Amino acid sequence: MSPHRIPTDHPVLAPRPGATHRLHLTASDVSVVLDVTEGRAPAIAHWGAALGELGADGLDAVCDGAVDVVPQNAVDVPVRIGIIPQQSDGWIGRPGLSGSRSDGSGWAPRLVTESVTLDGAPMAAAHAETGAATARFALADAALGLALGLEVELLPSGLLRMRATLTNTAESPYALAELTLTVPVPAEAEELLDFAGRWAKERTPQRSAFTVGTHLRENRRGRTGADAAHVLHAGRPGLGFRRGEVWGVHTAFSGNHRHLAEQINTGRRVLGGGELLLPGELQLASGEEYAGPWLYATYGEGLDAVASRFHRHLRSRSRHVDTRRPVTLNVWEAVYFDHDLTRLTDLADRAAALGVERFVLDDGWFGSRRDDTSGLGDWVVSDEVWPEGLGPLIDHVRGLGMEFGLWFEPEMVNEDSEVARAHPEWIMATSPERMPLESRHQQVLNLSIPSAQAHVRDQMMAILDRYEIGYLKWDHNRDLLEAATRETGRAAVHEQTLATYALMDELKAAHPGLEIESCSSGGARVDLEVLEHTDRVWVSDCIDPLDRQQMNRWTSQLIPLELMGSHIASGRSHTTGRLHTLAFRGLSALFGHLGIEWDLAQATAAELDELREWITLYKEHRELLFTGDLVRADRGSSPLWMYGVVAPDQAEALFALTAVGRSSESQHERLRFSGLDARARYRIRPLLTGERPTGLALPPWWQRAEEEDGLLLPGAVLSTSGLAAPLIDPEQGVLFSLTREPVTSDAAAADR
Ligand code: DGJ
Repeated sequence: MSPHRIPTDHPVLAPRPGATHRLHLTASDVSVVLDVTEGRAPAIAHWGAALGELGADGLDAVCDGAVDVVPQNAVDVPVRIGIIPQQSDGWIGRPGLSGSRSDGSGWAPRLVTESVTLDGAPMAAAHAETGAATARFALADAALGLALGLEVELLPSGLLRMRATLTNTAESPYALAELTLTVPVPAEAEELLDFAGRWAKERTPQRSAFTVGTHLRENRRGRTGADAAHVLHAGRPGLGFRRGEVWGVHTAFSGNHRHLAEQINTGRRVLGGGELLLPGELQLASGEEYAGPWLYATYGEGLDAVASRFHRHLRSRSRHVDTRRPVTLNVWEAVYFDHDLTRLTDLADRAAALGVERFVLDDGWFGSRRDDTSGLGDWVVSDEVWPEGLGPLIDHVRGLGMEFGLWFEPEMVNEDSEVARAHPEWIMATSPERMPLESRHQQVLNLSIPSAQAHVRDQMMAILDRYEIGYLKWDHNRDLLEAATRETGRAAVHEQTLATYALMDELKAAHPGLEIESCSSGGARVDLEVLEHTDRVWVSDCIDPLDRQQMNRWTSQLIPLELMGSHIASGRSHTTGRLHTLAFRGLSALFGHLGIEWDLAQATAAELDELREWITLYKEHRELLFTGDLVRADRGSSPLWMYGVVAPDQAEALFALTAVGRSSESQHERLRFSGLDARARYRIRPLLTGERPTGLALPPWWQRAEEEDGLLLPGAVLSTSGLAAPLIDPEQGVLFSLTREPVTSDAAAADR
């Protein structure tokens, strides 16, 4: 069979009734071209590098130029890969919309576009070219009784995001199985990078080839997951932090969800994502609608560039946190369940003396919760351990000038609790007789039952109304197995997730300024939707600085440093048993929202002095850390990692060099401080806080920098040709501060 030409009067090419709309959105070096040819469902004709001004002709050329040739043994028209891919457009891969009526019909939609608006105004013309903007497409398959609203937004950061809302416009119910949105990626994107992980070892990167088939990351945990795909990237082979074009997606949802990378046998590739719905979970009655989560899509040259779009977007929100993120002491690894007023006020005194600004009381203050087998879900202060209530501790903490924070786990219960005994029907299960397996001795409380949600809300609100509490640590310590409404058996993860967001919002609305930390067995609830309702994530229960080097590095692929809880713990890690110097613990925690999680009564005077130095250093640099651009150097397989933050105006920077292992080579690659202004001059100063790293052998430039007040060097040397690296023992590190020299009037005149 030979490829054939389609006669132009072939019915599939005959003009369709719908209007043609073509849009070019461009922001921050990214272009997105959206194509609605003759009323078809919207497709992305280009997503990637900026195209410059196109004009109507250019826009047509992009869309028409993206139409494929028809290969052998395929449908007789070019296959169109829509944002919601459909069989009716010739796509043989995973469909975007799956569902059916009870008689089995309605499963193969033919959505067409009925109208388009751009930033709220109806689009009358065929072409539009604009900066960051929101396009809304109203789609329908009238015969199947389905209407779908698709929102596509290019944000000023160059981040693209899309979400869809499906409405059942027919009389009979529609069982929705899946609504997945996709973005196309070119064939050059041959390598995939996403994440795996487990408790205390979250976000471990994994790479694979992008081959024919589906790389499907399904999550049925009812929470984002320690092993979440996090950001699923496709890029040029060997993509690194600073090199290689990369396209990535993130499904912003804290319940069940999926990410996928799919290639069909034509070679066409998409990335996509959406919520994962359990069987029967979403039965849309007539007129009912389902709103899917945001799918974020990021593009750039290297992983730093794609991460920076997420960071800039998060930082641009009006509700984003202040850069003066308070140094936080969390008592968990200091006292665990041993709540004792004298011990905790003493800990507060020691913390305040170091410059700590927030004191957080963790698990164990309520009900019968003396260990993790009992009392969870009873959000009433325990008379047994707090006979005078929390007032004496909170007054003490606040009297020391610190804010007070409190731990909750609102979606959970121990079976041995007042609430579980009074309302067994509130426990998530598939029937009254079938209790799910316990995990950490606990079950899930069904917040989609209004009375259950009201109960939790009222108990939490009573605590917040009674005490001066500025911060909640919101924990969630188990996966949701067989998570249904117990009396009906119907899956309820979707409703549970939305009810959780709503509860967070309600508490915040009632207590303006209240911050919430998203914690889930450490870092198992880190996603962009939870961050619309919270203000910080706990990266991991593992505070071992060596493991944190990896976890913080990759958590920051999605979120900026100010949202990552990053603590200094005791010398011997409670999770790994490894011992580290305070210098390495401090340096590793510095690039994040700093906290302490250590029984300070056990620390020596010298350790406390050094801890105070780290806190001071953090306070001096937090403005830079939380406004600057993250830079992670590509250093091959070298265990000498280098990363830092460069101020947006490039006037200053702070870099860390950390040895995460021993090298099989005796010399290291030069240090390159990327992100600096190559034309400026910078003074570089190595900063050695606390104990000097062992095994430190200095190259000559560094020796000179130590003898003088740093070394003044051209930005091009620092960023491009580089400086010889030191030798240093593993699990040690150093910092470098870089400040741009003001341009003297003589130099400015010479420039002119
Ligand atoms: C798990 C969290 O990740 C810890 O930080 C701590 O809050 C415990 N739960 C308390 O039970």
